[in-house]
Amino acid sequence: MDSENTTTEKNWKHSLLYLIFIISILHLTNQTNFSRKLILGNETVRIKKNPELPLRFRSDGTFKILQVADMHYGNGITRCRDVLASEFEFCSDLNTTQFLKRVIEKESPDFLAFTGDNIFGSSSPDAAESMFKAFGPAMESGLPWAAILGNHDQESTLNREELMTLISLMDYSVSQINPSADSLTDSATGRMISKIDGFGNYNLRVYGAPGSMLANNSVLNLFFLDSGDRVVYQGIRTYGWIKDSQLQWLRHVSRELQGQETDATYPIKTPALAFFHIPIPEIRQLFYKEIIGQFQEGVACSRVNSAVLQTFVSMGDVKAVFIGHDHTNDFCGKLDEIWFCYGGGIGYHGYGKAGWPRRARIIQAELQKGKKSWTNVQRIMTWKRLDDEKMSKIDEQVLWDRLLSR
Ligand SMILES: *[C@@H]1O[C@H](CO)[C@@H](O)[C@H](O)[C@H]1NC(C)=O
Ligand SMILES: *[C@@H]1O[C@H](CO)[C@@H](O)[C@H](O)[C@H]1NC(C)=O
Ligand SMILES: *[C@@H]1O[C@H](CO)[C@@H](O)[C@H](O)[C@H]1NC(C)=O
Repeated sequence: MDSENTTTEKNWKHSLLYLIFIISILHLTNQTNFSRKLILGNETVRIKKNPELPLRFRSDGTFKILQVADMHYGNGITRCRDVLASEFEFCSDLNTTQFLKRVIEKESPDFLAFTGDNIFGSSSPDAAESMFKAFGPAMESGLPWAAILGNHDQESTLNREELMTLISLMDYSVSQINPSADSLTDSATGRMISKIDGFGNYNLRVYGAPGSMLANNSVLNLFFLDSGDRVVYQGIRTYGWIKDSQLQWLRHVSRELQGQETDATYPIKTPALAFFHIPIPEIRQLFYKEIIGQFQEGVACSRVNSAVLQTFVSMGDVKAVFIGHDHTNDFCGKLDEIWFCYGGGIGYHGYGKAGWPRRARIIQAELQKGKKSWTNVQRIMTWKRLDDEKMSKIDEQVLWDRLLSR
């Protein structure tokens, strides 16, 4: 009976989600002109637009990612927090949209990565509508984009599963809900894992430059992970964390990807980047270390340390990790030879610091020039853009260089 109830509830939830999705689409079709339409009965429904896949480096040997952290979108007109008194009156979610559009135009990235708290659930009467507004510039850009969830996204009318489903169905989104747990075993119990925790754990592969030797191989791997929201753990309220099933999946995919290694001249694993929302506890140690950028608030991580850092170290391919959550931290710091970088908060409805411009992070991977064509990734760079008049570029740095690593 229990399982029957769960199934009924699940079916009911799916129907509801589907209905919400159709309604949101219909709502949007009324507002925008779409080129591709599907007629169902006498209702017009549109089909998801897909980017050209696979993701791949440009013919100039670069691949540029824009990290968008903590949009904290409300209903589209919710007011700004932590801006100067003089800025308050004419400031809303629309400023977040405006900045996102400006930075896309300025940097012309190849891919957008949204690292959670995309919407601020408690300011959104309708989660689907807020999501469509928040991701509007991404959908309009026609660029492939991916998102994961933070701890606030589910505080409105959709739960985490529904949100990831919706996000995966949006125009040009390459986000996925979850991989299958086939052939994974729990490290503590040795039992088979039946389900991977969370929603929004997936891997994207970036192929070599067109026409190059590695045009049909992934030369850069991107991992997206769900770091959860809030939980009560041993009687204490704390933030979520990346679970063992997710780490087992990660190790499995990483091993699988290394299996297709091609270039014998450089016996270095294909580099990977990871994206999730909530920082890991070790990031606190960076307060005492050399960092690039600013450390202005406490690291709001989980009380549980699930050994994410050790997992990355043992995998060997993750060179840099991009997180959000703490809006006024925007630094990069190194733990066990892996860089951890904050995005630094783009959203005006999210908390910030008056007079300290909202910002976004850019990550650029560059290929190595072979004798005849582009080969593997040679170097990974990062910098930030500020939402000031000149869109100042700050804190440019190298995250990884093949020649300097082994
Ligand atoms: C849709 O079709 C039904 C029956 O075919 C008709 O009764 C209804 O008026 C139509 N609706 C619209 C908006 O045209
Ligand atoms: C928000 O956008 C409005 C309209 O474009 C602009 O006048 C205002 O300066 C912006 N505020 C901030 C803080 O960027
Ligand atoms: C990549 O695949 C395409 C299509 O199958 C093929 O035409 C091309 O020769 C392949 N390139 C390399 C370098 O293997």
